[in-house]
Amino acid sequence: MTDAPGSSPSAAKKRLRLGVLVSGGGSNFQAILDAIAAGRLDADVALVISNIPAAKALDRARAAGVPWKIIDHKPFLKREEFDAALVESLKEAGVEWLVLAGFMRVVTKVLLDAFPMRVVNIHPSLLPAFPGVRAQRQAVEYGVRVSGCTVHLVDAGMDTGPILAQATVPVLEGDTEDTLRDRILVEEHRLLPEVLQWVAEGRVSVRPAGPEATGRARVVVAGS
Ligand code: GRF
Repeated sequence: MTDAPGSSPSAAKKRLRLGVLVSGGGSNFQAILDAIAAGRLDADVALVISNIPAAKALDRARAAGVPWKIIDHKPFLKREEFDAALVESLKEAGVEWLVLAGFMRVVTKVLLDAFPMRVVNIHPSLLPAFPGVRAQRQAVEYGVRVSGCTVHLVDAGMDTGPILAQATVPVLEGDTEDTLRDRILVEEHRLLPEVLQWVAEGRVSVRPAGPEATGRARVVVAGS
């Protein structure tokens, strides 16, 4: 008996090989795992690396049976040397796209050059507002009425790369950093896997910086 057209192993759809960098709880990493398990994300986590040995995200990796590794940043004298160690492991695992899912380290050119315009970050504010650490606290302290999250490509700046997608949430009277964080996280967990699926479908491309006033590179998402 022969296989039906399109059903042979060679015709199987290629799945995106993701690397994920984490430092903490890993709820966004979990959202990626859940989307893969539910068939909403045509990808596999080829490797997750934590720079924090006790990160809860590693328990999630163990529970899901995905390859994981600890690379502690502390013994490295320079950020570039730490990044070179990350790149070596990620390349060895065959990673194609890299996700920073609560990775609390500034990345260098060493990492970005290894995955040009293929590093995705999720940030808990509507960039370019409130880049950097404790974005939710910045939003509450400023008194904005709307905040949210941003999924963007990583460039050499601090949360400055081309934006892939954003989602908004209201900032309510009496909100604290924690209550706003929880409301934003709900959107993060929905948006990040959705954007990664666009990548898996080959719909994401980058239009280089043009002559417009900002001179910024932009993401183009086909079919949206
Ligand atoms: C998220 O708020 C994400 O936007 C930010 O770090 C946090 C990570 O949370 N970059 P988790 O580790 O995914 O739970």
